[in-house]
This record gives sequence, structure tokens and C-alpha cells, in this order.
Amino acid sequence: MFPKNAWYCAGWDHDFNMIANRLVPREIAGELVMLYRKADGQMVAMEDRCPHRQAALSLGTKEGDGIRCGYHGMLFGPDGKCREIPGQTKIPERATVRIYPVVEKDGWVWVWMGDATKVDPALIPFAVGPHEPGWVLKTDYMPVNTNYRLEIANLMDLSHLTWIHKATLGGTDAYTNAKVKSTVLERGVRNEFVVRGLPLPAFAQHLFPKGMLIDIDYHVTCTIPCTWVLHFRAYTAGTATEGPPNGQLILDTWSGQAVTPRNEDWVDYYFSWGTSVETTIRGLPETLIHGAPPAFLENKAVPEAQWKRMKKNPGGNRLRIANDADGNKTPAVLDKILAAEAAAAMAA
Ligand code: FES
Repeated sequence: MFPKNAWYCAGWDHDFNMIANRLVPREIAGELVMLYRKADGQMVAMEDRCPHRQAALSLGTKEGDGIRCGYHGMLFGPDGKCREIPGQTKIPERATVRIYPVVEKDGWVWVWMGDATKVDPALIPFAVGPHEPGWVLKTDYMPVNTNYRLEIANLMDLSHLTWIHKATLGGTDAYTNAKVKSTVLERGVRNEFVVRGLPLPAFAQHLFPKGMLIDIDYHVTCTIPCTWVLHFRAYTAGTATEGPPNGQLILDTWSGQAVTPRNEDWVDYYFSWGTSVETTIRGLPETLIHGAPPAFLENKAVPEAQWKRMKKNPGGNRLRIANDADGNKTPAVLDKILAAEAAAAMAA
């Protein structure tokens, strides 16, 4: 189940620039969508299904700003209306394909999967993107064979850093014992916490003085359905035991992560990470995005294995522990939004 009246990330904007006339197929929240750019650079998100015999329009060709189906040659404009049917002059009224509202923001392409009369650009989650002049952010992508609920629960339960990312990001029980200030928002959850006196992650240690310890101030916001934005600031280990760190700021970073569900079994995971211009050091943004993939891959392996087992044993997830609290909040907000949409649909 997926919220309908919501923006879903369809990828990084540069994914749609590489090849002229490229048609990019996506499955988003259970629907088949094809994206392309018009001659003026504007994006079009079109249902990837010909109304004639359901051929994939992404297997067709771009003609001007329209798409010609590769099976029997029907031509559709960027407004979804059929312009031409080879072999006949009459074009039936219903010869149309659905067009989805699409917006580019913060380096991501967003598609509105719901009622076009309810489009609300204000619902696009806040993020610091790779084009921001004050930041050096790198981007990447991976597909994950899991249900998106498991990813949004995982991303908000940062106690997992102690365990899943023991060898890459964690290696200390500071995350398990962190005191998290958690705020439930109308469409998400924000978590704030500080961890103190940590060693640097192994992949970045060579860039800093040997044996250096740091305090880290985390501000994390998850927006339903599937976006997770992290503002992560590292300081030299200070003397404060409560409140913000009081050491020297050595690293100011943002990471934007979108875990777009294709369907119940797959997620397209688009992520960025990098540093502010003021705190970056040579090679660090590349180290974060390329040194961290083992950590991102750990976030792939665990939810994939979980989902496989949950499908085999749907009633087997009975035990709760204290550290579930943060991870359970985002699925609860998701359920509230799904229930509200279902109630609105019933009322209509
Ligand atoms: S399936 Fe597209 S024109 Fe026939």
C-alpha cells in the first residue's frame, strides 16, 4: 500500500540528461511511468502503457516532444492526447495516456502519483541538493529487494549503527544508548540527538589526526512516504555532556536519501552525501559517498533478508524492544496517511 497524494522521487536530475531522446522507464508506487525531457528541457512523466494494446511506450521513440508507440505507431503528445493513429483519420476521445505532474527540486525529480487536482509543491520534502553552491555533495543509487516500510523504519532507528554498521560507521554502543529527541510531524518524524567521544569511521580516519575523537550532532527528518534527510555535524570531542557539542566544528554534512517503492518488493534508493564548502577537505566528499557504500550495502543486505523472512512468516514479528521506539514512528505516520486516504476515498 502506498500513499497516492504524495511526491515520489524518480531519480537524480542528471539521470535524465545523459542521452538525448532517452525514455526512462520507472515503476513508482505500483504504477508504470516513463520520463523524458522535452526540447525545452522540461520533464514529462507519462503512463508507460499504450492505451491500444498495453505496449510499453518507453520502448517507442521520441518524436518532437511526443512519443510514438513502437508497436502500431500511435503518436501521443506531452499532454497525453493521441495526435495520430496510423491507418485511420478518426482519433477516439479515449485515446489518451495519463500525464503525472513532475517537478525538479534539489537535484531530484519528483512525480505526483495522486489526484492532479490535489498537487501541492509544498509537500516536496526539504533537502540540500547537489547543486547547492555552499555544499559539495556526491550522489549514488542502488536497488533494494525489500518493502519500503522496512527501509523507512531502518533509517529512523539509528541504534542500528551500533550493530549493522559495526565495521563501517558505528563500532560503539553510543547509538544504542543515545537520548533521541523525537518529534512526530504531520507527514513524518524528526529525530535529534548527540553522540559523544566517538572514533572516526574507519573509511575516513586517514583524513584526520590519528586517534581523534569526535562528538556528532544529528538532525534527521523522515518525510512520508519515503524521504530521509540528515544534517550531520562533527566536532572535536568537547567537555559538554548535555546539549549541543562544544568542541570545534570539523565537518558539516548533509545526506539526502529517497527510498522510492517500485512495488511491495523493491525500492529504488537514491542517496547523496557531502560536506559544506567551509568544512570540506580534499577527497572527503568522494570518501563519504564512495567510502560509505559498504555501509549503504549493509542497509541493503539486512532489509532484503528481513523482507524475505517476513514474506515466508508474516506473523512471526512478535517481539518488541526499547530501541524499536524510533523505528516504529515513521510506519505509524505512514499508516495514518494511508487510513486518511482510504477514508477520503470511501467518502467520495
Ligand atoms: S500497442 Fe501501442 S499502438 Fe498498438
